[in-house]
Amino acid sequence: MTILSCVELQARATREKMVRLMRFMLLCLSIVRMSALNLFPEKFAIAERNTNVTLTCRTDKDNIEWKREDAEIQQSECEILRGKDLTVIDLDEDLTGNYTCWSDDILEDYTYLLLDKSKEATGFKINCTVETFSCTENIKCTWTSDEFSALRLRNTRDNGHWVSQSVDGEFFFLPHSTNSYSEESERLLITGEAVSKCCYMKTDHSFYLRDIVKPADPSISICSIKHEGSDEQIIELEVMPPSTWPQPQSFFPLKHQIEYEIRHTGELKTKEWDEGSKIQVEGSVSKLRVRCRDLLLLSEWSEWTTWQNVN
Ligand SMILES: *[C@@H]1O[C@H](CO)[C@@H](O)[C@H](O)[C@H]1NC(C)=O
Ligand SMILES: *[C@@H]1O[C@H](CO)[C@@H](O)[C@H](O)[C@H]1NC(C)=O
Ligand SMILES: *[C@@H]1O[C@H](CO)[C@@H](O)[C@H](O)[C@H]1NC(C)=O
Repeated sequence: MTILSCVELQARATREKMVRLMRFMLLCLSIVRMSALNLFPEKFAIAERNTNVTLTCRTDKDNIEWKREDAEIQQSECEILRGKDLTVIDLDEDLTGNYTCWSDDILEDYTYLLLDKSKEATGFKINCTVETFSCTENIKCTWTSDEFSALRLRNTRDNGHWVSQSVDGEFFFLPHSTNSYSEESERLLITGEAVSKCCYMKTDHSFYLRDIVKPADPSISICSIKHEGSDEQIIELEVMPPSTWPQPQSFFPLKHQIEYEIRHTGELKTKEWDEGSKIQVEGSVSKLRVRCRDLLLLSEWSEWTTWQNVN
């Protein structure tokens, strides 16, 4: 046994400190790299909390080495290595991330492991509307979450593709193949998937298309004004169905509502009528607007048209 001098001991202590510092910096680096997921990983595996999950390296090489988020994985209590398989024991948030397998420093395969929180995560709902029964218009859905960074929806009934949010980040537009001329017999099933850097969740939303119809707003044109400006004024106007509304109108009748303002008092009045696109409004009216809904199903009302001034 050699006796180390005081100087040597000090040098060794300094080196040990440096190594520790370097290890710490490497650890920090690998944490920084694990940033939020803004897209769905191409290959991912999911498993519930406290379960064991086995990842397989798809390769014909032997001598496989696994890494998680760039850190080497040793045989430990958490992970069991057996040939090309890696078993992650007792999954929780800390064990999620990008698992890569390497042979002689060449990347062979990878799997992003996520914790499935479908049973825990609640309280955020998919909300969908559609402007018409016809499959020419996509179903428009909202779905938001503070907890997850990437979301996608799919029309599972019609075997649709996954759809991400539109560019403005507000809506998902989902195609469907519902036949607007026959009775809708099967509910739509919209499936949502969400991921964050550690976690995953899946949820379903099921409804009939007819229950989510909200027509686009109609358009109005004023045909004639009699006794203009007087109290006996009569306005005749025509309401055109929204451009996305299916034809023929006899098959898809609309109910209308008009709101108008009495010039002298500022009072607002409403009037409803079924079918027929023409209507007369009597009295000294200064402005008016119209909205519509499906007459047979009493769908949600459309938005109002913008106010139209009457001279
Ligand atoms: C996981 O690692 C692989 C290999 O480096 C890479 O191609 C892939 O983009 C990574 N995925 C994520 C979501 O970081
Ligand atoms: C996971 O594996 C460990 C070690 O092999 C075992 O003790 C435990 O029972 C397993 N857990 C489950 C949920 O199978
Ligand atoms: C769904 O969205 C519509 C309009 O986008 C909104 O009026 C309605 O309140 C929402 N419903 C729920 C349950 O959030």
